Amino acid sequence: MLISLTLLYHAQRVRSSARCVTNEVETVSLNGTTSIAQPPAWGSTAFRALYLWACERLYHELAPGYDIISRFVSAGAWPAWRRTVLAHIKGQRVLEIGFGTGELLAELAKLEAVQVKGLELSSHMQAVALRRLAADGPSAPCIQASAAAMPFTAQAFDTVVATFPAPYILEPDTLAECARVLHTGGRLVVAGLWVRAHNSRLRRILPIFYADPPACVLARIAEQVEKAGFQVTWFYEVVGWAEVPVLVAELP
Ligand SMILES: C[S@@+](CC[C@H](N)C(=O)[O-])C[C@H]1O[C@@H](n2cnc3c(N)ncnc32)[C@H](O)[C@@H]1O
Repeated sequence: MLISLTLLYHAQRVRSSARCVTNEVETVSLNGTTSIAQPPAWGSTAFRALYLWACERLYHELAPGYDIISRFVSAGAWPAWRRTVLAHIKGQRVLEIGFGTGELLAELAKLEAVQVKGLELSSHMQAVALRRLAADGPSAPCIQASAAAMPFTAQAFDTVVATFPAPYILEPDTLAECARVLHTGGRLVVAGLWVRAHNSRLRRILPIFYADPPACVLARIAEQVEKAGFQVTWFYEVVGWAEVPVLVAELP
């Protein structure tokens, strides 16, 4: 059911993102498509609510099934898509926000050059991640909190990373908190705001799965992040059959 909802939802997002008619930028999760929201028709509002409700279930009660579903919708590429953030990490003190089931967190914890902490809102996701870290080691401090109110001192990190973030990532409170906890010159690195098929023929076949937002959407996302004091650069990493955008936002 979640997968059917995802497919249908993205059909709607791709159609609306092509028009770029309002000032509202929102992210939707699971495969992280970003688009400009249209003034909602009744049907799309109901569908959006249903989709967001389904995602919430996946982040909470159904968290143990998250890895299976994310692999299914990405044909197994999800972990490799996440790793696109690694090349953009700067400095030792790294915070991963919205770490989900903790796959990337476990990889970061193994890197000698990095001291990582994780922050995640969902206690269900956190439980899955803690089991993974206990089995996989070494461990990493995991904090249950919202990215909009982080329990860290100012300038505590050199890099904050987020992969396939839920809508929270572009909220002003989250961006302000990221700016606060980062050191001057620090970076916020966000991968997977959307994903598109690399091959243009595949892109035509799979338009409902993987969006291709127009330039105005990128400009508005960048504008939103820059309002929090960052300078934004977009990178596009080709990983397997897809292109994954990586937003690197640096504090001057
Ligand atoms: C689509 S999942 C991404 C999980 C993982 N990063 C990945 O790449 O698969 C989004 C995650 O963000 C978490 N989340 C949602 N709102 C949040 C917030 N305000 N603060 C921290 N985490 C949040 C959700 O619980 C969920 O685990």
